[in-house]
Amino acid sequence: MLGAGGAGRAMAVEMAWAGAAHLTLVTRRQEQGQEVADTVTRAAGVPAVWASWQGEVVVPAGTSLLMNATHLGCAPALELVPVRWDSVDPACVVVDVITNPRITPFLATARRLAMQIFEQWTGVPPEEAVFQRAVAEALGE
Ligand SMILES: NC(=O)c1ccc[n+]([C@@H]2O[C@H](COP(=O)([O-])OP(=O)(O)OC[C@H]3O[C@@H](n4cnc5c(N)ncnc54)[C@H](OP(=O)(O)O)[C@@H]3O)[C@@H](O)[C@H]2O)c1
Repeated sequence: MLGAGGAGRAMAVEMAWAGAAHLTLVTRRQEQGQEVADTVTRAAGVPAVWASWQGEVVVPAGTSLLMNATHLGCAPALELVPVRWDSVDPACVVVDVITNPRITPFLATARRLAMQIFEQWTGVPPEEAVFQRAVAEALGE
């Protein structure tokens, strides 16, 4: 998880309750990330550690869910989240706490890379509508 303020704190505990095996809280301030890591472990019994945010974040190997829990990417500023995208596993799910815009620059980058990987693996150009339908069905919409 990138950032661990009000939203990140709540989502870290929820993810642990939902079955996460391990959490890494990446924050600029150790005090903030360590406090949330300790809260996660106390509340859910799940191991959690703090990692220092310096420059572009290198995502730890084995990460299966990467969440932006900072303001970065929120309208109108739409900043990029500094992530070393080549450290993100192709099977990693990428999510954002920001809802305006719905597709943040962080999500747009992840989607573009996922589309490239899909085409490399299958040789088939991805059709976004097919994925959108599958997600809607999975969500019962
Ligand atoms: N989807 C939802 O249900 C939901 C709910 C609530 C909030 N949100 C959204 O979530 C976002 C965060 O809200 P919040 O209430 O959690 O804010 P917050 O309490 O201020 O926490 C923001 C976090 O982002 C970090 N951060 C900010 N700028 C950064 C930067 N340039 N580099 C690295 N870390 C940075 C902060 O670290 P520092 O403390 O060191 O600055 C802190 O860890 C907002 O955009 C809000 O709209 C979404």
